[in-house]
Amino acid sequence: MKNKIPFFVCLFLFIFLTQANGFGQIPTWTNDIAKIVYANCTSCHHTGGIAPFSLNSYTDAYPNSYYMAASVTNGMPPWNADPNYKRYAHERLLTSAEILKIQQWATNGAPSGDLRFAPPAPTYSNGTKLGTVDLSLKMNDYMVQSNSDVYRNFVIPSGLTQASFATAIEIIPGNPGIVHHVLVFQDSTNNSISNSSSGGTGSAGSKLIYEYVPGAQPYFTPVGTGLRLAPNTRIVIQIHYAPGSQGQVDSTRINFKLTTNNVRGISVNPLLNHLNTLTNGPLSIPANQTRTFNESISFPGNWTFLTASPHMHLLGKTFLTYAVKNTAPFDTIRFVNIPDWDFHWQDNFVFQNAVKVPSGYTLKATAMFDNTSNNPNNPSSPPQNVSAGEATTDEMMMVFFSYLSYQNGDENLIIDKRIFPKGATTFCEGITVTLKTIEGSGYSYQWFRNGVAIGGATGASYEAGLTGAYTVSITLGPNNAVSDPIQITVNSNPIAVITPAGSTAISPGGSVVLNGSTGTGYSYKWYLNGSVIPGATSSSYTATTAGNYELEVFNGCYAVSSPLSVTTTLELNEIQNPDFTISPNPSNGRISIHSSIEGEAKIFNTIGQEIQSVSIKANKNEIFIGEAGVYLLVFTDNIGNTNVRRLQIMK
Ligand code: HEC
Repeated sequence: MKNKIPFFVCLFLFIFLTQANGFGQIPTWTNDIAKIVYANCTSCHHTGGIAPFSLNSYTDAYPNSYYMAASVTNGMPPWNADPNYKRYAHERLLTSAEILKIQQWATNGAPSGDLRFAPPAPTYSNGTKLGTVDLSLKMNDYMVQSNSDVYRNFVIPSGLTQASFATAIEIIPGNPGIVHHVLVFQDSTNNSISNSSSGGTGSAGSKLIYEYVPGAQPYFTPVGTGLRLAPNTRIVIQIHYAPGSQGQVDSTRINFKLTTNNVRGISVNPLLNHLNTLTNGPLSIPANQTRTFNESISFPGNWTFLTASPHMHLLGKTFLTYAVKNTAPFDTIRFVNIPDWDFHWQDNFVFQNAVKVPSGYTLKATAMFDNTSNNPNNPSSPPQNVSAGEATTDEMMMVFFSYLSYQNGDENLIIDKRIFPKGATTFCEGITVTLKTIEGSGYSYQWFRNGVAIGGATGASYEAGLTGAYTVSITLGPNNAVSDPIQITVNSNPIAVITPAGSTAISPGGSVVLNGSTGTGYSYKWYLNGSVIPGATSSSYTATTAGNYELEVFNGCYAVSSPLSVTTTLELNEIQNPDFTISPNPSNGRISIHSSIEGEAKIFNTIGQEIQSVSIKANKNEIFIGEAGVYLLVFTDNIGNTNVRRLQIMK
């Protein structure tokens, strides 16, 4: 019985350990938060980015920590699709663990941790991410004319003389600080109107092919497919300029990768739209009312759906779209549910797995519009009657789908094979970066470094902490695709070791030289008991006082030595010389010293620092020590005798 630990003790220990290991640690910027912010926030929140402030360093984030904690359960990062309804490729979502960490961090005063070892901030450039660009179209310079939200269409002739297939589309905002979102249409008619300020393009024949929000990755079509661009088509880019952009100039560019190879053509069409699929139309929303509309269309044939992009204007509140089979066995195929529509964050929802929509299904949408003054986005005050139309103050209700004619095995199309690094790709030893690729059902993975399979690296993401070229091989059913390599560079940390050149027990007034490890490009800082020693920046340091010494070495990365303890040999043998007397001892600080021979007395504290030096006359002398403690008095007389006494001062 004796050795049995009672059950409640076990329980207590278990709770204690899980607390200490799981929840007891306060998150710091260095250990936890930087990684989350760099992966999920700074694509918009960097200097020159669309967000109103930068979070691209601890200094930037610290004053915003309170708002960050509030924002992560209230709209940040912006992502409007309900993740409980369906998940997508390239989602901007935090996990509940990440949300909790940001909240705990902010609640605990947003501690930095040791910033020397924090992951470096990612850098943002306005260059292409397509590798090679086959078609690059740029709008003319445009100067924003208003400080309110501005929506403008720019029509750019593609110059394509033959039908081509786009395999990738990318928007490069000319002025990333003001371009809030961009809708990309192709229009093979002459009807779209350049420089018009409407929510549509002015042309019912225009087709939405891509939607850009800041920080979005370029869209790549699945291998073997391409978006058909008609000969001589025009590209219409509709740009939303954020409020406060008046007088700023933008010239946004759109890049394409093209192929004329025999790829499967992806169609993009607003299969659901207010023009001819409304079941309770027309789309008109009287002032001061809310209205819910339904759209429905049967879509004969077998199809493979790749993306869905719901589109409404400012009165939109909710949007739900799906396909149903109304004969047994009944079935629903989910597309998108937007419980809180935001015109400012329209996304192209890319399905994680290609979705087969077989014959016999009906495509459906339900959307709610709020034309009351309760809707903060209502463009009219007081509310006006609104009906369907192209202006932003009119309304629309559309779902643009991109789809292929179904072929056997399309369920196994690998939607995207790219690797996305969720942070800087060059960093110091000890840090890692999350590499992420497409997630979805049925996918399996093997990650490689420099062509060699990494044991156990079989998830949709991989924490890379070693230099190398990483690739991932993705398998879905019989299909396999290998990503392009992504280079990770891990810089070696310097070596920080202190080697004392002699005994680390120094006598009062003595010293020991501490040598730091040397290497190319090293710079140094010496610390004593945790504080920087001013001016001590060379590879060695002469220690004259006791304490814990540490050496910080920097070569682009940091290393800190383990502490080295220097002690003083305080208890020197107390030589008793009858001619040399001290009284009283212990004392209150006032001490008489008697010696028949002149000389010099030095007084050291317990860590070997000299605190006083007094010349001793023959016979009577008096000294005063102001602080209580133990001291060492070393008297060296003029004929070379040394007397050491331990002094005790009590106050
Ligand atoms: C896709 C771009 C984008 C991303 C990603 C993003 N933000 Fe924002 N954020 C914005 C913009 C733009 C604003 C200005 C208000 C607006 O337009 O909604 C903003 C505003 C904010 C605000 C001000 C208060 C508020 O809620 O409006 C906070 C705080 C904030 N973001 C924190 C974050 C944090 C934390 C993350 C990452 C977890 C993040 N944001 C990710 C674009 C982004």
